[in-house]
Order: sequence, then C-alpha cells, then structure tokens
Amino acid sequence: MTTAHRQPDVSNAEQVAAWDGTEGSYWASHAIAFDRTVERYQPHFHAAAAIRTHHRVLDIGCGTGLTTREAARSAPNGEALGVDLSAQMLDVARSTATSEGLLNAHFLQADAQTYRFEPAYFDAVISRTGSMFFGRPEIAFANLARA
Ligand SMILES: C[S@@+](CC[C@H](N)C(=O)[O-])C[C@H]1O[C@@H](n2cnc3c(N)ncnc32)[C@H](O)[C@@H]1O
Repeated sequence: MTTAHRQPDVSNAEQVAAWDGTEGSYWASHAIAFDRTVERYQPHFHAAAAIRTHHRVLDIGCGTGLTTREAARSAPNGEALGVDLSAQMLDVARSTATSEGLLNAHFLQADAQTYRFEPAYFDAVISRTGSMFFGRPEIAFANLARA
C-alpha cells in the first residue's frame, strides 16, 4: 500500500499482516477450492444483493474477487469495485476478471475501514465474509455508509 490515503488503520495491523502475507498467499493459491466451499449459498447471497444493471457496487474484502465479478456481470451499465488488504488475492482477482473480459470490474488494495471513497457514489455495498475483521467496526461501517 503506497499512497497515504491507503494506509491501513493501526487497529487492522494484524489483519494486514495476515492477509497481505502468508494467509493471503494461501487463499490466493487455493481460490477455486475456497469458492467451492461456499458455492451453495453464493446464489442466495447474490440474489439478496439485488444488483441492477446500472448499479455501482462496492465489494468489501473481495479477496480473489468472485463476488465482484458476479456483481459486475449483473451491472453491465454500472461497475463493481472490489476492495481488499491482500495484494496476492487481488492479483488473482484482477487476472481472472481480465481473462473473463469483465471491463467493469475494478480492484483496489486498501483498508475499507478508513479509505476515503467518493461520498454517495455506490448504490450497493456487498461483502461475503469480508466485513467482520474490522478493528473499529463503528468507524468502518460509518465509512461504508458514506460511500
Ligand atoms: C475470509 S476472506 C473472504 C474473501 C472473499 N470475500 C470471499 O468470499 O472469498 C476475508 C477477506 O477480507 C479482507 N479484509 C479484512 N479486513 C479488511 C479491511 N479492513 N479492508 C479490506 N479488506 C479486508 C481480507 O484481506 C480477506 O481477503
């Protein structure tokens, strides 16, 4: 994470060390297996998000990006932005989206708790097991509400 506004909050230091380190590398190498473990509830998760064709969707803790890609597919006139701490998992997310020709799926390495998203830009915020790691959830969810 290079620029100042992407600096993770100190309360998330352990999460950064894990996900932008060995934990993230492990998940990145086993992305297909991890996606398979939750494939039965994925259709329900996606349906509950009720994404419309023009929506701008923010995916918190997107990991290797399956949920971001599905959101982008449902929003051909909008876009999906996946945010995650892990460079390794985002590499997989980006390369898979590119290989699937998804030009409206974007990815950002940042701490979603504090990253300054454009206010009121997104129509929907989704997260598949990526929003329970915040060190300061009250600050994180206020930040996401602004986005
Ligand atoms: C259990 S994984 C889930 C990944 C993905 N959503 C999925 O369903 O495959 C949790 C993810 O949350 C991310 N994460 C944890 N805290 C975060 C934060 N403060 N900001 C952004 N991402 C975060 C981790 O980097 C990790 O990729």
